[in-house]
Amino acid sequence: MANVHQFDVVVVGAGGAGLMAGLYASRTARTAVISKLYPTRSHTGAAQGGISAALGNYEEDKPEWHTYDTVKGSDYLGDQDAIEFMCNEAIDAIIELEHMGLPFDRTPQGRISQRPFGGHTNNVTGKPVRRACHAADRTGHMILQTLYQQCLKNKVTFFDEYQVLDFIAVNGKAAGVVAVELATGELHTFHAKAVIFATGGHGRIFEVTSNAYAYTGDGAAILLRRGIPLEDMEFFQFHPTGIYKLGILITEGVRGEGGVLINGLGERFMPKYAPTVKDLASRDVISRAIYTEIREGRGVNGKNYVWLDVRPESVIKYAAMDGRTNPDGSPYTITAEQVLQKLPDIIDFCRVYLGVDPVTQMMPIQPTAHYTMGGIPTNKFGEVVIDSNNTVFSGLYAAGECACVSVHGANRLGTNSLLDLVVFGKYAGLKAAEYAKHADFEKLPQEPEAEAKSQFEALRNGSDKENAFDISTEMKKVMFEEVGIYRNEQGMKRALEKIAEWKERYTHIRVQDTGRIFNTELLNAWELGNMLDVAEVVAVSALNRQESRGGHSREDFPQRDDANWLKHTLVWKQNGKINIDYKPVTITNYQPKERVY
Ligand code: FUM
Repeated sequence: MANVHQFDVVVVGAGGAGLMAGLYASRTARTAVISKLYPTRSHTGAAQGGISAALGNYEEDKPEWHTYDTVKGSDYLGDQDAIEFMCNEAIDAIIELEHMGLPFDRTPQGRISQRPFGGHTNNVTGKPVRRACHAADRTGHMILQTLYQQCLKNKVTFFDEYQVLDFIAVNGKAAGVVAVELATGELHTFHAKAVIFATGGHGRIFEVTSNAYAYTGDGAAILLRRGIPLEDMEFFQFHPTGIYKLGILITEGVRGEGGVLINGLGERFMPKYAPTVKDLASRDVISRAIYTEIREGRGVNGKNYVWLDVRPESVIKYAAMDGRTNPDGSPYTITAEQVLQKLPDIIDFCRVYLGVDPVTQMMPIQPTAHYTMGGIPTNKFGEVVIDSNNTVFSGLYAAGECACVSVHGANRLGTNSLLDLVVFGKYAGLKAAEYAKHADFEKLPQEPEAEAKSQFEALRNGSDKENAFDISTEMKKVMFEEVGIYRNEQGMKRALEKIAEWKERYTHIRVQDTGRIFNTELLNAWELGNMLDVAEVVAVSALNRQESRGGHSREDFPQRDDANWLKHTLVWKQNGKINIDYKPVTITNYQPKERVY
């Protein structure tokens, strides 16, 4: 065994959740953070519009309203104890980030500035409240930089550009991970008492996505192969506003600042679908509305897109129609300078990628695969739970998008992902360090790297009849079309047949690059294996759930069905076979009701 490292806690992933976990664990335990990327390139950096907390810096707001909005937004599938915990923690979490130096935008009085976002409401009036704390439209980027600086200050040990390939468990307890060092191609074993997965999502299984290239479901797939279930994988969120064809996120903050959606006939259509909150309805509602407009022939020029309009004169016109006011009660206005100041990144994206200037022109947008609500099951302390009784797997933790706590249920509210990763990253770090204090190192197996080695060897020695890029391109297209915003039995069965075919073809891949140094071809081929495993679980879970709820919309079962489906899905893979079980949703204060916007 060459290259063995020993740490009390090993964190896999250096996005917001991984850095927060690393920071907290490192306060009392020897901690390493391993990342396939350089940490500040992690996908948290792509989060734009804000992080939610009921600070009430402009108008009255309360954690109870934040809790109820999140429960309602989740279409009642979120676990209410965990949601309440997260929303109550939110205020301290934001203040802590502020004290760490995060450069939030400010109100004229010097408080943290907040903007409206979809589904954030005053629970008495039903009107939008400003709950999203923001740093222009670079909030995730700022969180990432701030936490990375704190980790460096706290002497967390980083292994940058190391791809984790396998999880080691001994005697039913976490014992470490195996990783490849991308710069050399060498395998490394990280022997640990506690392991935290914070590996992000898997939006790259879809053709049009806002997700980074790195989002290939690695953590979920690794644990699935090691017998850990995945929870609620049928629920995938399509963000309403991605740049047409490219999928790059155009923040919901645009609509928070007064932007509106316009169809190909020049009509503002959201009042038809969500009469109260209109363009600030929750994402599942808006994505379906856009899709319906397109399907019924009201896309722009007969194409698969509609407009997002944040031109100041339009914003002022629609704000007057909606009766929107400034915090002082005066009619809402915005200038071109303010649009530029509040939304600099998305303006740059549109100018650079489309040659469109959002200050004077409308942006072509379509829904883009954005966020998985499902993932590795955990409790609210980040402990991975492995069955319907919530049995904890000793020493194993997960946080951030790869985890399913479940606070987002069937649909996540915008800005709750940044909150989720800060809150649950912290608790995963604290709990892992506490566990490590009392645990011993398990004895490593004779050849901990064996499984990782054999996966790479297979990709180096396939029959060469297939290449990863072709399979990947087909998979993304089929998943987007058949397991996307709208789903039906025939389409998902077709997708599953294709997945079986791609999995067979996958065994014939032989990578052409035989080198060891930064062999990205080998890495991409290995990532495709993860995407295929995850795509299969997504499609199986979606086919199995015979109702529509949140981000899961079945044309053949268009109603939510609480009598039969108010439960979480758990999926295991054992000896190549998929097994499904369920666990109850935790309901505390809010009985399920119809969602009205
Ligand atoms: O629209 C956005 O800025 C995205 C935020 C989020 O996904 O929470």
